[in-house]
Amino acid sequence: MNGKKYSVVIAGGGSTFTPGFVLDLIKSQDKFPMRQLKFYDNDEERQRKIGEAVKIIMKERAPQIKFSYTTDPKEAFTDVDFVMGSIRVGKYHMRSLDEKIPLKYGVNGQETTGPGGMAYGLRSIPAIIQIIDWMQEYSPNAWMINYSNTIAIVAEACRRLRPNAKVINICDMPIDDMDRMAAICGLDSWHDIDFNYYGLNHFGWWKEVRNKKTGEDLMPKLKEYVKDHGYWVGGDYDKDTEPSWEATFRKVADDYKMDPETLPNNYMQYYYFPQYEVANADPKHTRTDEIREHRQKIVFGECERIVKAGTAKNNIWDISGLHSEYIVDIIHAIAYNTHEKFLANCPNNGAISNMDPDSIVEVPALFGADGIQPMATGKAGRFQRGLMMEQQTCEKLVVDAYEQHSYQKMLQAFALNKTVPDASVAKKILDDMIPVNAPYWPELK
Ligand code: NAD
Ligand code: G6P
Ligand code: MN
Repeated sequence: MNGKKYSVVIAGGGSTFTPGFVLDLIKSQDKFPMRQLKFYDNDEERQRKIGEAVKIIMKERAPQIKFSYTTDPKEAFTDVDFVMGSIRVGKYHMRSLDEKIPLKYGVNGQETTGPGGMAYGLRSIPAIIQIIDWMQEYSPNAWMINYSNTIAIVAEACRRLRPNAKVINICDMPIDDMDRMAAICGLDSWHDIDFNYYGLNHFGWWKEVRNKKTGEDLMPKLKEYVKDHGYWVGGDYDKDTEPSWEATFRKVADDYKMDPETLPNNYMQYYYFPQYEVANADPKHTRTDEIREHRQKIVFGECERIVKAGTAKNNIWDISGLHSEYIVDIIHAIAYNTHEKFLANCPNNGAISNMDPDSIVEVPALFGADGIQPMATGKAGRFQRGLMMEQQTCEKLVVDAYEQHSYQKMLQAFALNKTVPDASVAKKILDDMIPVNAPYWPELK
């Protein structure tokens, strides 16, 4: 501890993840003491619903922390130590289109993979760059921990456009997978796992998984389990897991068979089995519709209930979630210079020995007051390297399209992607996406 009390702003205060994160921050006051918490969003009404409920939570549980929410960037980004990036540009309306437009043409329709993921990435770039600029202007010493997707594309944009900014792009998916690995091996949580992992965001493989305390190699046990069940744990562990996530974790059994030497990130299913994904999708009812019927309803319903009741006793976020717990761990590591190991999306610079230095990769890194120190993970397998070269080229082409306002580059990005079978299909999807993305994308010429 250094005696300091921290000030944090959540950009995307209206996010469905915000209340859970706030509760985890409150629970961590002995570990990460705060003096101020602010929300920033560009949707006043959406943020107010969450903000009013959080006001009550803060008053009851952490009155020592000053809380406010605003749509004014200067107010939001002044006097902060950490900026949490949790925005969804275009909100669920645009996510729905990212999913449904490709499906119209028999192509994978998913939030962060395939054409939908690239469309989302292109929307996020200008908004994230703007937030970085505000942070640098109003709180030049602050760190931004960004998890606004599409992370791989956002990280490539940061590398090119704001190379010296104090931004770390992270993802919670490997944590979720590792927590499952821990459960499969009878350990308490992902904190008990040591690992070597390499890849791109939502596109990677574990080379090594060990019991952190004993050093035991857990790969043999895990492979035996994963080949039949994927990362599905079941029972009490999965009592709140939604059916579509169950299908995802079970599908890992098939992903694993593509390379039995490593264990895959669950997102590999979209690249290995795009036809299966399309065959199992309902183009009229995608993940966005599930979230509208489930998470969004629950989160906003609970906020309304708290505001009406005037108390946050027994709220649904009293049980902490992996996502927010992980983010608290990360800001703690930076604040107290612990050099703990987490995964980061950053320029390769040799971390994967046979990938280009300027590739954005997802690799283990030590997190401390100086930001991240990526670790050397060794050499990517031939199969993995081939897949990564293709995927990261798509990600780079999207940033080219942004910088050059280039239709051609965006078309190439779609056509090259493993989820798209044919350049003429790529063109149809892109041409449908351009008008609906007009408020967010640069004009592609
Ligand atoms: P959400 O739509 O519930 O919330 C996002 C909020 O961002 C909304 O309130 C919206 O008004 C706001 N917003 C949009 N554009 C903005 C802008 N330019 N400036 C300020 N605010 C803006 O979304 P969600 O489902 O809670 O997800 C939030 C983000 O977190 C998404 O980008 C999602 O992809 C990401 N996410 C990432 C990970 C990860 O592992 N990297 C995990 C979970 C969620
Ligand atoms: C994981 C990924 C995130 C992604 C989210 C989607 O947490 O790491 O990057 O945004 O899943 O989950 P959802 O429940 O919104 O479909
Ligand atoms: Mn992610």
